Amino acid sequence: MKGAQRGAKTFIVGISGASGSIYAVRLIRALMEEPCRVIAMISDGAFRVLKHELQGFGYRAGQQIQDNFKEFILQKAQNLHPQASLEVLTQHRFDAGPASGSFIHQGMVIVPCSMKTLGAVSSGFADNLITRAADVCLKEKRPLVMVTRETPLNLIHLENMTRAARAGATIMPPCPSFYSSPASIDDLVDTVVARILDHMGVENQLVQRWSS
Ligand SMILES: Cc1cc2nc3c(=O)[nH]c(=O)nc-3n(C[C@H](O)[C@H](O)[C@H](O)COP(=O)(O)O)c2cc1C
Repeated sequence: MKGAQRGAKTFIVGISGASGSIYAVRLIRALMEEPCRVIAMISDGAFRVLKHELQGFGYRAGQQIQDNFKEFILQKAQNLHPQASLEVLTQHRFDAGPASGSFIHQGMVIVPCSMKTLGAVSSGFADNLITRAADVCLKEKRPLVMVTRETPLNLIHLENMTRAARAGATIMPPCPSFYSSPASIDDLVDTVVARILDHMGVENQLVQRWSS
């Protein structure tokens, strides 16, 4: 796979330690069906969660996330665009481009977004690459979709969501829909991923759209 071409769309995917890492995997694969540059950022908490959650999807974690996460994404990806590219960064890579407003991209999705990461973003506590890149999105008025996952929600969670939404983020809890008659986990996951892509302005046919 070649590097993404100059002018290709760049999207940031932050993966934090909430349940639902499969949403991030599917989102990255879907983005890579387009001529996109995808920069994935994985928190330490996410690594702890996804090495369990993705076992059932064929992922075998190494000691470090960088060891084989990218290979896992690419192995099972179908219809990869020849000009798509993927970088996988840890939360510690403060030197990465998206930590600066001068790095141009088309938007960021935090999926799944833990209550800790939500709390950090909503209070401007940019202590790792994901929360810093999100903070930058908000100050630069770039799209930021936060796929916040917890249930039930306490008042702090709700207030943090309100605060992030007021600052410009789109709060999109991963609520699968059933009107497209999903028959598998992949189908259910796609009902959420399709809505994320819609909000990032990425055309997709992941699910049949409602029309009466
Ligand atoms: C198996 C597992 C599932 C978790 N699921 C959630 C979750 O759905 N939502 C959440 O807010 N935190 C969840 N957590 C807790 C977070 O991983 C933890 O708060 C972590 O510090 C988040 O850090 P991060 O946001 O930097 O990734 C889970 C932890 C584990 C081990």
